[in-house]
Amino acid sequence: MGNMIVGKLITGDDGLLAGEVGAWAKRKHSDLCRYVDISRAVRKGFVAPGHAGASFIDLFCGPGRCRLEKTGEWIDGGVVAAWKKSQERGAPFTRVFIADIDPRRRQAAANRLRKLEAPVTEVDGAAVEAVHGVVRQLDPNGLHLAFLDPYNLKALNFDIIVALSRLKRIDMLVHISKMDLQRNAVSHALADDSSFDSFAPGWRAKMPVDQVQQELRRQVFLYWREKVAALGVWPSTRMDLLTGEKNQPLYYLLLAAKHELAQKFREKASNVERQGRLDVWILKVDLQDAKTHRRGPGSIMPDYDGSQITAAFG
Ligand SMILES: C[S@@+](CC[C@H](N)C(=O)[O-])C[C@H]1O[C@@H](n2cnc3c(N)ncnc32)[C@H](O)[C@@H]1O
Repeated sequence: MGNMIVGKLITGDDGLLAGEVGAWAKRKHSDLCRYVDISRAVRKGFVAPGHAGASFIDLFCGPGRCRLEKTGEWIDGGVVAAWKKSQERGAPFTRVFIADIDPRRRQAAANRLRKLEAPVTEVDGAAVEAVHGVVRQLDPNGLHLAFLDPYNLKALNFDIIVALSRLKRIDMLVHISKMDLQRNAVSHALADDSSFDSFAPGWRAKMPVDQVQQELRRQVFLYWREKVAALGVWPSTRMDLLTGEKNQPLYYLLLAAKHELAQKFREKASNVERQGRLDVWILKVDLQDAKTHRRGPGSIMPDYDGSQITAAFG
């Protein structure tokens, strides 16, 4: 499954290659754009002439345009949506780095971004190699935002996160779908070449392999998050579990950011929450009475404590 390219390519409404995606992609993009929006004031300080600049890094960029499977609606891919948002809000990224294991997808995204006058740089290869090519080109004093949105856990090699963590100012949004975790059943974990080995290296020494699937996944996931936190560069790592219309867990969004930005994100997010404008549903589980609370559109979990993971796997 590792480097497999999933999903078919179709001709987009603009004539370039595009992808087909599930409805949740819209929400994923709105989360991404929300962060781009909320971080604009900080970014402004970096994008002014003579300053170190602010980059957007997308190592799993996809083609940049997609059609929703059920409704046929066309939407921008994540990187295009993020670029447009940064422009619209008066703090455009000074560099946009994109990579995708499939060069057709990356080139389609690059074409779309160039039409929008984005300062795009394509980097060849799988994310785990491309990340080094990107880091080499970054201004060490700049402000950087990486969006990591792979199809599967294996592609999210931990070395990518380690390489990014060496940057002075880097925020990271990581998208992990529940399906990805489900695909990695125990039988898969038992294989010599498990997805878990690249996603969370060292996991085998930390937990018994022969436990029920749901518990193993939960423990691998918590272990991964601890590894991210242990890199020590992101004082604020928060994890949100986003759920679908029927309250089913859909995916996790990990935001790893420097204090000020994460704080801003929180403040702004709760402002938006009060105005009821966000289409984000969060499942929050109270461990004490094991009751499940759905907090409604726009609610943001106060803090990550691991209980959400229990919910998702329960
Ligand atoms: C979920 S899609 C990305 C969607 C995109 N972020 C968006 O929001 O529109 C994942 C992409 O990762 C690419 N991919 C798969 N394995 C990869 C790897 N090891 N390195 C880089 N890209 C990979 C796929 O070709 C696919 O385009």
